[in-house]
Amino acid sequence: MNNVNNKKFYIKSYGCQMNVYDSNRIKNLFQSEGYKETNDSKSADLIILNTCHIREKAAEKVYSDIGRIKKIKKQKNQKYKLVVSGCVAQAEGEEIKKRAPSVDFIVGPQSYHKLPEMIKKKDKIINDDFLPEEKFSKLIFQSSNRVTEYVSIQEGCDKFCSFCVVPYTRGSEFSRPVTDILNEVNKYVNNGVKEIILLGQNVNAYHGKNNSGKQVDLSYLINSLSEIDKIERIRYMTSHPINMSNSLIESHGKNSKLMPFLHLPIQSGSNKILKEMNRKHDVNQYIETIEKLKSVCPKIALSSDFIVGFPGESDYDFDQTMKLIEKVNFSIAYSFMYSPRPGTPASNLKEIDLLTKKARLSALQSLLKEQQINYNKLFVNQSIKVLFDKEGRHNNQYVGRSIFNQSVFSNSENNIIGKILNTKIVRSTDFALEGLV
Ligand code: SAH
Ligand code: SF4
Ligand code: F3S
Repeated sequence: MNNVNNKKFYIKSYGCQMNVYDSNRIKNLFQSEGYKETNDSKSADLIILNTCHIREKAAEKVYSDIGRIKKIKKQKNQKYKLVVSGCVAQAEGEEIKKRAPSVDFIVGPQSYHKLPEMIKKKDKIINDDFLPEEKFSKLIFQSSNRVTEYVSIQEGCDKFCSFCVVPYTRGSEFSRPVTDILNEVNKYVNNGVKEIILLGQNVNAYHGKNNSGKQVDLSYLINSLSEIDKIERIRYMTSHPINMSNSLIESHGKNSKLMPFLHLPIQSGSNKILKEMNRKHDVNQYIETIEKLKSVCPKIALSSDFIVGFPGESDYDFDQTMKLIEKVNFSIAYSFMYSPRPGTPASNLKEIDLLTKKARLSALQSLLKEQQINYNKLFVNQSIKVLFDKEGRHNNQYVGRSIFNQSVFSNSENNIIGKILNTKIVRSTDFALEGLV
């Protein structure tokens, strides 16, 4: 620790796993300055809101939290500082400045390494720099979990889907060099971490350099990581269908540490809507990719993201999405009502009415839920390997993930955190499995 002080910080993460990863790095930065973390925002000297801009609701939540904190701030002394970091800070920095003067510091997702310095110098806003290379070189990596650790390997996005803010909030695609990633991962595994989840908005577009300066792909990185003995499991997210290369698909057949689960968002089952979304592939290409994956890894569990009610989505288009879901049969999937985002091309298109959107979301979610329940039922009376990573809500209960990424809970007299155990499934609930170890 550089300099010890008595200050405490409180941090709240909104949004995706990459934001959670960033929050962990922000924590490590302040811990190295001598700050302690607190779960009580009222007792903190520094409050950090690490924000998400992906849908309107996510962004609005930030403003309501700022309002709540403003009240606490009024009762406290000058030392109480509020930081807004993350994607809302990047997209709406100037607006936050005007709309919420109680915010002391505003910093985007590619410049948060400068936060401790900003606070010392009292600079209010840094959100115009995209400095991923500099950022990663300045970060501090301390494991926050004994079992599973997330590692950002790729940042930003060059795809420009017509509905999405990420290319504007995170900047263009950047891949970290292999050696940097291995150094970070080795720190974690030496602390007992068993599973590494590689992160990126377009993780399978990874194209970092290896130590001979040669550009390599995600399958190369996964193979390098799997050579580390102490790593037992590797996963990656989120992938774009057009970057599912043959080498990556083949890794699912060859690399036993790479888990048989893939989150591969398609958003819509209609070619017309996919085109309007600028997704750069059609339904057949997606199905072909899945067939290839199944030919090398027949049991692979598949997950996806869907947007319903995109402008111009007709009943027929929606029906195509339902048909695609029926055809693929997802083990789990996430679905969202289209939310127009300022500055994106789709926000200029005429929206469809809210009632139709709501009805479609509800029908789609029922189908996905039914698929998830049926998928989980297949495991009852089967044995499956589970990596237990945390305590459950009840006494002697532990929770973990199956190789197919299902949540599994089990009772044990012994602490089984960090263990991979063959678990006999006795019951399936809507969203989880119960097993005996
Ligand atoms: N990079 C990933 C996803 C990033 S955002 C990919 O390419 O798939 C996570 C999910 O949020 C997206 O897959 C999409 O389903 C949803 N999403 C993004 N923008 C949205 C918007 N404007 N309205 C509704 N959902 C959106
Ligand atoms: Fe957004 Fe599309 Fe990039 Fe995913 S691929 S982050 S949805 S622009
Ligand atoms: Fe949200 Fe930014 Fe992630 S907009 S989903 S926190 S990349």
